[in-house]
Amino acid sequence: AAGADPGVDPRDFVAKMKAAKKRLVIFYGSQTGTAEEYAIRLAKEAKSRFGLGSLVCDPEEYDFENLDELPEDCAAIFVMATYGEGEPTDNAVQLMQNLGDDSFAFSKGEHRLDGLKYVVFGLGNKTYEHYNAIARVIDDQLEKMGGVRIGDRGEGDDDKSMEEDYLAWKDGMWAAFSQAMGVEEGAGAESPDFVVNELSTTDQSKVYLGELSARALTKTKGIHDLKNPYPAPISASKELFHHTGERNCIHIEFDTSGSGITYQHGDHVGVWPSNSDIEVNRLLFALGLGSPERRSQVIGVESLDPALAKVPFPYESLPSEMSKNKWVFGVGSNYILNLKMAHHGETAPLLSEDGETPAHVSGPTYAIHGPRSAYASGEVYKAPIHVRRSTFRLPTNPKSPVIMIGPGTGVAPFRGFVQERVALARKAIEKNGPDALKDWGQMYLYYGCRGENEDYLYKDEWPSYGADLKGKFTMRCAFSRSGPRKPDGSKIYVQDLFWEDRQQVADAVLNQKAYIYICGDAKSMSKQVEDTLAKILADAKGVSAEDGHKEVKTLKERSRLMLDVWS
Ligand code: 2AM
Repeated sequence: AAGADPGVDPRDFVAKMKAAKKRLVIFYGSQTGTAEEYAIRLAKEAKSRFGLGSLVCDPEEYDFENLDELPEDCAAIFVMATYGEGEPTDNAVQLMQNLGDDSFAFSKGEHRLDGLKYVVFGLGNKTYEHYNAIARVIDDQLEKMGGVRIGDRGEGDDDKSMEEDYLAWKDGMWAAFSQAMGVEEGAGAESPDFVVNELSTTDQSKVYLGELSARALTKTKGIHDLKNPYPAPISASKELFHHTGERNCIHIEFDTSGSGITYQHGDHVGVWPSNSDIEVNRLLFALGLGSPERRSQVIGVESLDPALAKVPFPYESLPSEMSKNKWVFGVGSNYILNLKMAHHGETAPLLSEDGETPAHVSGPTYAIHGPRSAYASGEVYKAPIHVRRSTFRLPTNPKSPVIMIGPGTGVAPFRGFVQERVALARKAIEKNGPDALKDWGQMYLYYGCRGENEDYLYKDEWPSYGADLKGKFTMRCAFSRSGPRKPDGSKIYVQDLFWEDRQQVADAVLNQKAYIYICGDAKSMSKQVEDTLAKILADAKGVSAEDGHKEVKTLKERSRLMLDVWS
């Protein structure tokens, strides 16, 4: 990488900081890039306010044994997202083990962090139970190990007010920071991140033509993960329902043969947005880059501080390829883009920060149709994907009953669950005859949508699964807008059907070791289903409502109740 010193161990952040005279190290635990963006913004602000250089670090790329060797005039900032049920992001798993795990030397007292100046900003979501758990654990742990908190921990709520929370936190933090570090406001200055040049002579074989990652560019084979997605051909795509343009739902099948990608039922597939050629063309014309000469002009983008601003594509590139991928467009159905290309040799920011146009950039605003509509229209024929492992799995023993609650698109993993059991059933019947499923547990699916003929996902498939599983699969549907209503006129939802079946549910959970899965909306649905379950269990056992909730908690701890929810 540009600026790398061959004498410095690439995993040694302290050495790197010393070599580059940086006084701040900023670690980010980021899954989709939001925490990383905040880490970079903090680094930029440290520079513009105090003239302090920062090393922004993906914790996965560094060792932590020398965290205690950070010089006294330095500080560490941790920008940590909490994921799912209080888990660290993939890139922070190791860091959390090092700081939090009792078996690790740091916390046994052999390794202290006395005097380490630090501050924490957490990214979480209030609709989840373990709000900002990772940031809180890190903050406590660093303090226990002797670290000195130089400013209050900030906590952002992704559900409502991340940006406001960040803004409300940072000024107080910087004030405390300037005191603790002995630095003065006004010592820094705004500086550009990138230099953009049009290149006249260049080795064509080195020009970036839209490869999905630097690793893909060097053609090194490797596992496909978050940092190295696989460009999967789309083998089928269809609209599952289309409701007056207000919302739609697309089914996409990816061909992963030959990619080495493996997955199990319940895993997630991450799909990277790419844009259709039509939209890329529109953008290029809007920027005055539409002519054949302009679009084939190779340009070079160089970061003035690679630790702060990474060029997200190889140095030499074509405008058309740069605009195709995620660094130019965000995920979303439609996206407003503020962008200005710098002129020949001029130094200027290439892209504005998300949603803010810095004062010295005055580019026009274009509305561009984003990737989602491109997938629906079939214009995209390959999509970069990677698989994210999940803990959402069927019990290994098919005798255990399975209760699945998944209204709306929450039904997606359950289709996989049922298909998985169907495959198992076929094998069992082949081996042991038609009675093979006799002592198998029942699979119950609670599904909800607006109307039976409106947005009922995979409507035609479900009956065949019931036949394949010889009746060991039952499905109940809550059609909230087309179906019957409660006596008081309110809608009937999945949790109401669940409650209707309370005797059966209690028997399956208390006497047959059933496994329960909830997937879909985190904001209200999953909470209401959990509350209903607590009530069912409390009633069945004749205990208090509070004890019913304790039962639910125990089920969760034993992985008999699993959630895959989002908001
Ligand atoms: P509604 O939109 O008619 O209110 C999938 O989105 C289904 O989930 C829809 O039928 C939707 O109903 C329903 N839904 C909305 N809020 C819900 C909640 N709190 N609990 C369960 N289902 C809900």
